Amino acid sequence: MQSRVMVSLEEGKEIGVLSRTNRFKVLPLRSPRLLVLFTVLCVVFLVIIVYTVRLLGVDSLVMNARSSGFGSCYEEATSLEDWIRPPSNLMHNMSDKELLWRASFVPRIKKYPFARVPKIAFMFLTKGPLPLAPLWEKFLKGHEGLYSIYIHSLPSYQATFPPSSPFYNRQIPSQVSEWGRMSMCDAERRLLANALLDISNEWFILLSESCIPLYGFSAIYHYIMKSKYSFIGAFDDPGPYGRGRYNENMAPVVNITEWRKGSQWFEINRRLAINIVEDTRFYPKFEQFCRPACYVDEHYFPTMLTIQAGNLLANRSITWVDWSRGGAHPATFGKTDITLDFFKRVREGHKCLYNGRNITVCFLFARKFAPSALEPLLQIEPRVLGF
Ligand SMILES: *[C@@H]1O[C@H](CO)[C@@H](O)[C@H](O)[C@H]1NC(C)=O
Ligand SMILES: *[C@@H]1O[C@H](CO)[C@@H](O)[C@H](O)[C@H]1NC(C)=O
Ligand SMILES: *[C@@H]1O[C@H](CO)[C@@H](O)[C@H](O)[C@H]1NC(C)=O
Ligand SMILES: *[C@@H]1O[C@H](CO)[C@@H](O)[C@H](O)[C@H]1NC(C)=O
Repeated sequence: MQSRVMVSLEEGKEIGVLSRTNRFKVLPLRSPRLLVLFTVLCVVFLVIIVYTVRLLGVDSLVMNARSSGFGSCYEEATSLEDWIRPPSNLMHNMSDKELLWRASFVPRIKKYPFARVPKIAFMFLTKGPLPLAPLWEKFLKGHEGLYSIYIHSLPSYQATFPPSSPFYNRQIPSQVSEWGRMSMCDAERRLLANALLDISNEWFILLSESCIPLYGFSAIYHYIMKSKYSFIGAFDDPGPYGRGRYNENMAPVVNITEWRKGSQWFEINRRLAINIVEDTRFYPKFEQFCRPACYVDEHYFPTMLTIQAGNLLANRSITWVDWSRGGAHPATFGKTDITLDFFKRVREGHKCLYNGRNITVCFLFARKFAPSALEPLLQIEPRVLGF
């Protein structure tokens, strides 16, 4: 701090000296030096303007003009485009209550009167940085228009992605969330609600900063888009960490036979995403009666979706995780773990149901990967991972 202040003081002194000398030298108006200086200034100014327009995008300039009441002729939606265009700026000042209400709007006519290209919303629930972002950027490259990104991080975290990154300006208004508490479910609902504002988003995938994709974009896109069922772990665990966490005060809204458990990392379609954001029936019960040692983020969505749309659930997640080492936390993989054999183990030798058929491709994403895994992951050949 101290040294920075001193430097700027010294710079200030120098600038003062320069301008004082310049004032005398520069006085004759027709001096060619002044002309050159003027031209240089003009060019610099032009470059700054061009850069700013590029950085912010024309859309957001129009948006700013609009919100400052500059071009009031833009304010009314005059064409269908105005209704279906996603918000160009993800920052808004809606409260959660206002946001969830807005996100619950559903068209009653099911056939879209325009060519809707369904997108996947990748929703990152993080503390702050995304150390594996370069891997995701490689994965997403060339598939613009088929995905959108949303990031929920600690409100104090300032992201620094360059404008060329798909993560640039994709942060949503966030709040502090804690594992095992309702604030974690609130964060997930906030992500879903923001993503629902884009009517082209059809699938909603919750990811953490330690998740990676296991296949190329096209393979994942087709697997998910063609699935009749949404992917969320939902099982009936009779033990103390399953039914043992059920509280009888939840009846009759939640019966113990409907109580489910599952990991929070889900992949759900638009219909179920709306079920989650519109819920006012189950939320108060879970908020009141599922407190530690009941981990609400392991029960709320699996249970309420089972009651409301059990026949639409695959009852499994497609995010691979390794609990085999035991303990309270799953294994984290770093630099030395990333080998071809490792990927064989993660991707092969499973069995699961996909649209009622037995198949072996059961996992499309995996966790947890440490930042040190990034370099070896980027070096895996495209023919192995598919990107
Ligand atoms: C959002 O901003 C508008 C005007 O800018 C203001 O009228 C409104 O009260 C704000 N809402 C919230 C929830 O802060
Ligand atoms: C829960 O459901 C089962 C059958 O579905 C029923 O027999 C039982 O009475 C219900 N329990 C409560 C507490 O409502
Ligand atoms: C998932 O479980 C629900 C009941 O909890 C069931 O109705 C549904 O058929 C199951 N889904 C599949 C794909 O088996
Ligand atoms: C899937 O495999 C299991 C055995 O692992 C078998 O019982 C079941 O009938 C198979 N289902 C289908 C749809 O082929």
